[in-house]
Amino acid sequence: MHSVLIFLISFLVNITTCFYENSSHYVPEWNKFLDQQQKLVSDLFEKYDSSISPVYSKIDINKPIGYNPIAPKRYNYTIFMYNIKLVEVLEPEEKVSVVMEMAEHWYDPRLAWNPSLYDDIEMLHMRQEKVWSPTINMFRINDIADFRDQDFRMVSLDNTGHIYSSLSLRVSVNCPLDVRKFPFDSQTCTIQFSMPLFFIQYVEMFSQIYDGILNKTVWKRMGNSEWDLVNLTNRVEILSYNDGIGDMQLATFEIKIQRNPLYYIYMIVFPSFVINALSIVGVFMKRTDKMSKLNVGLTNIMTMTFILGVMADKIPRTGSIPLLGIYIIINLFIMIVAVGITVLMGSIRKCAIPRLRMKKTELRQWIEWVLGDPMETICMTVLGTINALNFFVVIVFWIRDS
Ligand SMILES: *[C@@H]1O[C@H](CO)[C@@H](O)[C@H](O)[C@H]1NC(C)=O
Ligand SMILES: *[C@@H]1O[C@H](CO)[C@@H](O)[C@H](O)[C@H]1NC(C)=O
Ligand SMILES: *[C@@H]1O[C@H](CO)[C@@H](O)[C@H](O)[C@H]1NC(C)=O
Ligand SMILES: *[C@@H]1O[C@H](CO)[C@@H](O)[C@H](O)[C@H]1NC(C)=O
Repeated sequence: MHSVLIFLISFLVNITTCFYENSSHYVPEWNKFLDQQQKLVSDLFEKYDSSISPVYSKIDINKPIGYNPIAPKRYNYTIFMYNIKLVEVLEPEEKVSVVMEMAEHWYDPRLAWNPSLYDDIEMLHMRQEKVWSPTINMFRINDIADFRDQDFRMVSLDNTGHIYSSLSLRVSVNCPLDVRKFPFDSQTCTIQFSMPLFFIQYVEMFSQIYDGILNKTVWKRMGNSEWDLVNLTNRVEILSYNDGIGDMQLATFEIKIQRNPLYYIYMIVFPSFVINALSIVGVFMKRTDKMSKLNVGLTNIMTMTFILGVMADKIPRTGSIPLLGIYIIINLFIMIVAVGITVLMGSIRKCAIPRLRMKKTELRQWIEWVLGDPMETICMTVLGTINALNFFVVIVFWIRDS
């Protein structure tokens, strides 16, 4: 017991003194830096009130921007994106979620200092709550999660008064999706930030993208399994209602994503083509009873309807029918026609043949012959061709798309 206590005490003494004892920890230069930094911070923040904004507001908002030559230039606020990752696209709700890594940059003239007075210290890192920060708002955003710990946010501050902070956000935006070309569609989605409290005459917003991520190789990692990122742009939009006072700047990042259609080709387009082709053969097969033919046809119609339902769950309920929907509906239609012909074939023959035999012309004889034995083969060929054409149109879209 005694020895344990002695050990603990000696350990604690060691820890507290080793900063000075161990020459690799005790660097006089470091000590000097810490002292000067302390002095700098107490001088800088002596009269500083972090709850008051430095934005210059003695501006007549009815006059054009920059009308007063002696006033400072508009306050600059920059939002900078250095990474983005698509998380999910919920088509029925037209909702797109991304994770964004951002940096913010603004200026506070009260926090500038002369480095030569403070041992050439040019940079300070401190808790964000110590300095005034503009609160950035998201515009037209469905949901946002800020991953930073509210209590431990840091900023860096340089001797000219420029402040840098970073943000890590999960943003969910509502994007109107145009699914007319589904599953060969691409969508454009904007993520917008605004500062509604400050007039456009007070603050100028900037949006920037890190050059390193404007690269197609890097974009490959930014999509998800279904969507590829194909373009990334930034701009500052002005939202204006033409009354001159409600104008608002929107720092905008725009992503363009393209769907990977392979899943739908394998899971819907190809199987429905094969099922339809086989069913057409089945329905018009000779020497089979009518009931089995009807069974094949009706099973197929049910399958197509089911596939249509599966697809409908994936797309927003807009007025337009997507390409894949048209493909399935045509397939369904082919099958309905096939079943219809099979059901009515007997009646058509019974009804038409006696009438055709009333006169004897070449044309009538030919029609009679067609209605007889070759009828099934002709129907099978015609509907099979339509089915194949329908399939090839989709494949052409796919090839043109990729
Ligand atoms: C000083 O600290 C270094 C690194 O932590 C360590 O490797 C070294 O053994 C220490 N020296 C003494 C005398 O404690
Ligand atoms: C704001 O940014 C613009 C363009 O980068 C620059 O010309 C201007 O001097 C900046 N204004 C202030 C107040 O920093
Ligand atoms: C894009 O990035 C890749 C690797 O990250 C690099 O090899 C390529 O040169 C870059 N392309 C451009 C246009 O910067
Ligand atoms: C990305 O979009 C911008 C603006 O619409 C366009 O100018 C640019 O060419 C596009 N880049 C690519 C790689 O498509």
